[in-house]
Amino acid sequence: MQQCRVSGGEKEGTMKWDDSFAIGIEAIDNQHKKIFEHLLAIENSVAKREPWHILHFFLRQLAESLKFHLAVEESLLEIVRYPDIAYHGAAHAGLLEQMAELESRLQQKPSAESLVGFFETWFVRHVLSADREYAAYIEENFPRLMGGSQAPAGS
Ligand SMILES: [Fe+2]
Ligand SMILES: [Fe+2]
Repeated sequence: MQQCRVSGGEKEGTMKWDDSFAIGIEAIDNQHKKIFEHLLAIENSVAKREPWHILHFFLRQLAESLKFHLAVEESLLEIVRYPDIAYHGAAHAGLLEQMAELESRLQQKPSAESLVGFFETWFVRHVLSADREYAAYIEENFPRLMGGSQAPAGS
């Protein structure tokens, strides 16, 4: 099974992407993977005690990637008229607030612990749960939008 990890640091990230995390829509999965990589870069940067301007750079990358991804998802959910779009959008707003909190916590005290809470909220609670719910809806109602390894044979 393919794993995605960011290396190059003295300490390798403890969070690893596994293809079983995929929700089955290739573009979305690639964005989730990208966000995962940004988190690993931050984790490595914290572990190496890099100065704030470097850590801040990785945080900006994470924030941009997250904002872009959430906007893409919200457009997708609008297009497919996902019934729980309001609830999903509210969860996204919460994630952006958490992202801002993560940044200020890391600025005050750069520790890997600050990352754990964000990672659990974003990934474990959101991607593996809420995002999977809309993916199931899309699979049922718009199977042609599903891509990647779980894509149905075309035509
Ligand atoms: Fe997502
Ligand atoms: Fe989402």
